[in-house]
Amino acid sequence: MAATTGRSCLQYLIHLAQDNLDFRLPTPFWVLGELCEEDVHGIMTRSVCAKSAFELWGHGKTHCELKTSLLKYPKENMSPYTQKDSTYRINVYTFNKTLEFKDRIERIDALDYLSFDGTVNLKTPQHTFCLLEDYGTDPNNIPDQPLYVYFGRWIADGQRELIRSYSVKNRHFIGNTSMEACLSFIMANHAGVKKNDLVFDPFVGTGSLLIACSHFGAYVCGTDIDYNTIHGKGRSSRTNQKWRGPDENIRANLRQYGKEMTYVDVMVSDASKRIWRTGLHFDAIITDPPYGIRESTRRTGSHKDVTKPPEDYFGESHVPVSMAYHLSDIFADLLTFAAHHLVMGGRLVYWLPVHSPETVCV
Ligand SMILES: C[S@@+](CC[C@H](N)C(=O)[O-])C[C@H]1O[C@@H](n2cnc3c(N)ncnc32)[C@H](O)[C@@H]1O
Repeated sequence: MAATTGRSCLQYLIHLAQDNLDFRLPTPFWVLGELCEEDVHGIMTRSVCAKSAFELWGHGKTHCELKTSLLKYPKENMSPYTQKDSTYRINVYTFNKTLEFKDRIERIDALDYLSFDGTVNLKTPQHTFCLLEDYGTDPNNIPDQPLYVYFGRWIADGQRELIRSYSVKNRHFIGNTSMEACLSFIMANHAGVKKNDLVFDPFVGTGSLLIACSHFGAYVCGTDIDYNTIHGKGRSSRTNQKWRGPDENIRANLRQYGKEMTYVDVMVSDASKRIWRTGLHFDAIITDPPYGIRESTRRTGSHKDVTKPPEDYFGESHVPVSMAYHLSDIFADLLTFAAHHLVMGGRLVYWLPVHSPETVCV
């Protein structure tokens, strides 16, 4: 990606969300160069990790350094947004500290060396600018002065709202291992899922990953070894409900979000078995295999000699015997499956459990 606007020295500031992530970054602010504004808009229309993006006009360790940096910023980059006939507002955002109203006003007044010729409009400004102060990440040790300050023109907000609107708390059909919305969207983004893609989840469970993919317009399908999960039967995972209701299934989940038209189908099937015909290709395979912690890792089959072929059970009520499905086999099967059934350039996205005996503090 390269800068395509005529304006020089463009840098962008991304404000990343710290919550919903298991690790802590040393700062939630991330400076990016070598992009154009369309690239930034593209990122922000998909990202659930980014709160907002700004065209960075200046930055520094102190307000004094910020001033020097802002005064050096090319006037021709600023002028389209500071014209006399334009309207604007300036926000003050502080990370890890709350400023009183008077202090915010003081910060804005101190920016009087910037020549904004437009009119202030707090409700519907044409342009929004932001002074961002970073007070570090330690809530028990908040410095008096910010560790770093930035000033920029707001460009776009990320898709954090999706985390709330797709929360599993309000989802029609859930299970014990339903993947939370934020992580499902991150996976869909890693897979580069786009409109009209065909996406497959071989360990589909309650379909949380498919829901995120369907939000981006993909057609979705999946398999799971658990008959009850696929058919929405059995015990409910909700504390106040004993059994699943008649319409608790993946199709109903997609309907809840207005995406039923993207539902292809789900089937009961063992991911260790080859069931798909050769030549069938998915644009993405996105999955959360069982790790044997909250659900057992089983596959159909037996170590003993099987005397009766499966087709002989036709018409009978038959529960196949199962045997352990080791993690290494799960991942080997998944990679083999992806090698056969992904389009060229298609992506496989999955969780890999990692044992980390020590907590690493960043
Ligand atoms: C971690 S859960 C997936 C949860 C899912 N992402 C969701 O949001 O509900 C793993 C799923 O794999 C299924 N599973 C376990 N062994 C399997 C196998 N051999 N073949 C297919 N599915 C299997 C389990 O029934 C379970 O639903």
